[in-house]
Amino acid sequence: MAKRGAFGRMGFVLAAAGSAVGLGNIWKFPYITYANEGGSFVLVYLLAIVAIGAPLMIAEILIGRRAQRSAVGAVAAMAQATGFGPRASRSFSGIGWLGIASGFVILSFYSVVAGWTLYYFGKCLWWSWHGFSPADAQSLGPMFSDFLADGRRQIFFHSLFSAFTMGVVMLGIEGGIEKASKILMPLLFGILSLLLLAASQWDGFSAAWRFLFHFGPINAEGILEAVGHAFFTLSLGMGAMITYGSYVSPKSSIPRSALVICLLDTLIALMASMVMFTIIFSIPEAERATSFSKSASIMFTTLPRMFYALPGGVVLAPVFFLLVGFGALTSTISLLEVVVSYFIDELGWSRKKATLIMGGLIFATGVPAALSLGAHGGLSSWAPLREGTAGVFDNLDYLASNWMLPIGGLCIALFAAFGVKSSITRTELEVGHGPWRAYGMWRLLLGLATPSAILWIVWNVIQGHRF
Ligand code: TRP
Repeated sequence: MAKRGAFGRMGFVLAAAGSAVGLGNIWKFPYITYANEGGSFVLVYLLAIVAIGAPLMIAEILIGRRAQRSAVGAVAAMAQATGFGPRASRSFSGIGWLGIASGFVILSFYSVVAGWTLYYFGKCLWWSWHGFSPADAQSLGPMFSDFLADGRRQIFFHSLFSAFTMGVVMLGIEGGIEKASKILMPLLFGILSLLLLAASQWDGFSAAWRFLFHFGPINAEGILEAVGHAFFTLSLGMGAMITYGSYVSPKSSIPRSALVICLLDTLIALMASMVMFTIIFSIPEAERATSFSKSASIMFTTLPRMFYALPGGVVLAPVFFLLVGFGALTSTISLLEVVVSYFIDELGWSRKKATLIMGGLIFATGVPAALSLGAHGGLSSWAPLREGTAGVFDNLDYLASNWMLPIGGLCIALFAAFGVKSSITRTELEVGHGPWRAYGMWRLLLGLATPSAILWIVWNVIQGHRF
């Protein structure tokens, strides 16, 4: 078998942070924060990252590095090392299978949204060059709906993004994923810092800050959304971090790496929100009320006109969408890697074959999703799972983030806390780190806080809630 790839120490942190930082941070976090009135929502989110997300992140990386295999094989190997028989170990590896299925489902619709950033990048370049007229500003909403309902454009940008993703994954761990992350992540951080600096000169900056960090009311729905999002944004619950962990060298400290990854992810989400809210709060109140809807489309329907109304917007608008595209790309490659690495590790396929076949299948699954945003009536209204969750795209999203990731996360947390001998987890966590005093605390959080929070999510989802 070919030699397994390996990340350098910095490379791993950047690749894992690249997986974590994506549309979840720049597109989703700001709008759900806005919808939940900021303040307390942000606080709950931060708590969830620390008490629930970080312990699970550590658990995933540890399983991967110890086993040196991707998700399915890694779970089985850990069970075996703990003393379970071959049959029980194989059942445990169902956790890995669920992860592969989640990666498959998420990537298929995630790539569609990622494609939108390419389209808007192009659009903004055009506007910056030719000028952004008041008529353009008026038509942003209809333009977005037209774009969603235009099957041909949806498929075109979805295929473009899929091609980028497959290209990077095909180049492998060091030459593809690590290199892309080492270039894209600092670039993303640089651009975001630049945007933040520009935003700090605008009127709405202090209002944005107050909105983000104040104590306000929060309801159960908000808490559900904050906790659920903490998993999604850290790429947890589907073995993505097991897979990346399997390429980590014994020189790295897992607790320290996990800490940096969580910090970077949170920092970028907060920075992106500050930029977005500054733009929103810099617009006169009356106008804001009429033009700003609390919905998922704000990034596309509202941001361009706000950018072009502000100094420097001509440069910042295209740069912003490029940045979101970079963030999305480092996430899509991690999603594809979870799937591809199974076929490489367990079935001995070549990387090229695995990437082309699996990437192709995922792309194909994304096609009906891309057509279900209005282009095709039947696909857009199909609601097999839940009332109000209509269309292929929406159902895939609901299935993955409300069911598959929480259940996957629950299984991984329980497995790492109770299914694996503690002598194994302890040794592995101290490799490259030295004695780790927080070990007991980590097991407590992983065995208690994480599962309770997830069970609460699952219970709510069973009740018909959606986040
Ligand atoms: N974390 C990414 C984001 O915030 C999305 C993502 C990438 C993901 N890989 C994942 C989510 C694995 C769950 C599992 O956009």
